[in-house]
Parts: sequence; structure tokens; C-alpha cells
Amino acid sequence: MTPPPAAPSSGSSVPDPTPADASLAPGRPRDAVEEIAEILTSARYCIALTGAGISAESGIPTFRGKDGLWTKHGEPPLNQYQQFWNDPAAWWRSVKRRRENPDELSAALREALPNDAHFAMATLEQLGVLRHTITQNVDNLHRLAGLRELTEIHGNSHFLRCIDCNARTPFDEVPEALPPACAACGGLLKTDTVMFGEPIPRDALDECINQTRMCDCMLLVGTSAVVYPAAGFPVDVKMSGGRLIEVNPNETPLTEMSDIVLRAPAGEALPLVMSRIREIAEA
Ligand code: OAD
Repeated sequence: MTPPPAAPSSGSSVPDPTPADASLAPGRPRDAVEEIAEILTSARYCIALTGAGISAESGIPTFRGKDGLWTKHGEPPLNQYQQFWNDPAAWWRSVKRRRENPDELSAALREALPNDAHFAMATLEQLGVLRHTITQNVDNLHRLAGLRELTEIHGNSHFLRCIDCNARTPFDEVPEALPPACAACGGLLKTDTVMFGEPIPRDALDECINQTRMCDCMLLVGTSAVVYPAAGFPVDVKMSGGRLIEVNPNETPLTEMSDIVLRAPAGEALPLVMSRIREIAEA
């Protein structure tokens, strides 16, 4: 099992995840849909790991690749969490300024709605095929689509979190008094989104580890799989004899160890998989 690292971190070899022209063509990809449906329905306990790619068709930019936020603007400073600690009130004032004058990501997060891939995953959960989802996304779209068994390993931009007791509360407006205090324990509040340099919240990390231990099949959707600890979970599944299914228009470090790969956008691929599984369930 992957030991709990202090904070999300990138691996060293990052393939270029520039989106390929990978629209679902007739032929081999449809065989892959059939095979994926078979693997999912025969698994004992299937969970999913999702990343920014699943929300690309909702208009939220990915981080890496040709049009990725960090490809265009550079990665944020690695000491973000330290900056927060240095002066929490100043950090909160910067959040307030960003809400008044949103950058590309903040604006997209505000407007985005779930797409067909999010809805297909929620249906897979309702069908009893998908038991849990670990998402690296902070965009709230899995919840809006109706998915219930969810761990947001990097937090949720629509919530605040107390750094002492981990209590989460909805984030509607920037509070008047800065920095804000937790109503439950008086601890310092920050947004729930995990910053660079910030430890993954213990409750979320424990749930990811538990789910990974239970699972014998992991569906990987729209992640470049270079940020740890999330990128380590599929490796753990594979090493314990489980199966990996990758849905991504581009190659990732997990492609080679995946049992089956569907090279297509999630919004096209997952509804096909879901429909096939529904057919199998109704047969
Ligand atoms: P990345 O931007 O690293 O990778 C996005 C992946 O989505 C790539 O592999 C693309 O090929 C794929 N992709 C693009 N369009 C797609 C589509 N329509 N359908 C399916 N896949 C598609 O995003 P993540 O892997 O999520 O963490 O990045 C992980 C973490 O890096 C983020 O959670 C963030 C960042 O550090 C924090 O901010 C803490």
C-alpha cells in the first residue's frame, strides 16, 4: 500500500498528455466497450479514480497537456500552504479578490455543469457496478450528477474546511471576519481545496486507502496519473492482482499496466459502457 505522503506531488516523468484526435471510431473501440462492460460486471468491488479530463467536456480546463492551465500559465508555487500559514488573513483577502475578479479556472468552476460522463458514472453507481469513486477534482460535478459514494482527495472548491477538526461547511461568500474561525472548534478555516504543500486531509486519505484495499477493479478516467498519492492507488490495485481500465484520449504512465484502454473522451466512452451494462443487467 502506498504510504501516506505529506502532500500531493508530481512524479518525475510526465508524458505529454496533449489531447489526441481520439473520438470514438467504429471498430476496435466498440470491442473495448464490450470488454470493459464484461470486466466491470464480473468484478467483485469496482471503484473509479477520476481526474480533470472527465470535466474537460464540461468546459473546465485540464492542468497538463496542450491547453492545460499549467502549460499555459505555469504551475502554482509549491509553497502555497506555507503562504497561507504565513498570513491567513492576507491569503483570505486574495481569495476575496479572486472571487470578485475570477481567473480562468475560478470562472469555469463557477459555471460548469456535469456532462454525460459524470451522469454515466452516477448511473453505474445506481446499477451497483461502481462502489466508490475517488476524484482528484474539486469541481463538485460528480455530486451534482448524483454520485453518492465519493471521496474528493483534493477537496471541493464549494466547501470550507477547518484545519483542526476537518469539519466542512458550504462556501457561499467570503466571511466578514478574516481569517474565519470554525463554528465547531474555533480552528482556522480555509477553502477545502488542497493546496500545494498541504497534507491530504486524513479522513479523505484513509477512505482512499480503504477503498483501494477492497477493490479488485479500478476504472481510471481522465487522469494523467502523475500526482501522488492518487497516482499510486492504481499501482496498488494492480500489484494485489486487480484489474485496471483506462478511459483517456491520451497515453499515461498507467496505460502499460492497464488491462484494457479506451482511447476516447470520457463523455463519449462512459455513456456507451453504461448503456451496454444496462443491457446486460436487463437481459
Ligand atoms: P491533468 O491535467 O494532469 O490530466 C488530465 C488528463 O485528462 C490527461 O491525461 C488527458 O489526456 C485527459 N483528458 C483530456 N480530455 C479528456 C476527456 N475529454 N476525457 C477523458 N480524459 C481526458 O489532470 P489530473 O490528472 O486530474 O491537484 O491532475 C491531477 C492533479 O494535478 C489535480 O487534481 C491537481 C493537479 O496538481 C491539485 O491541485 C492538488
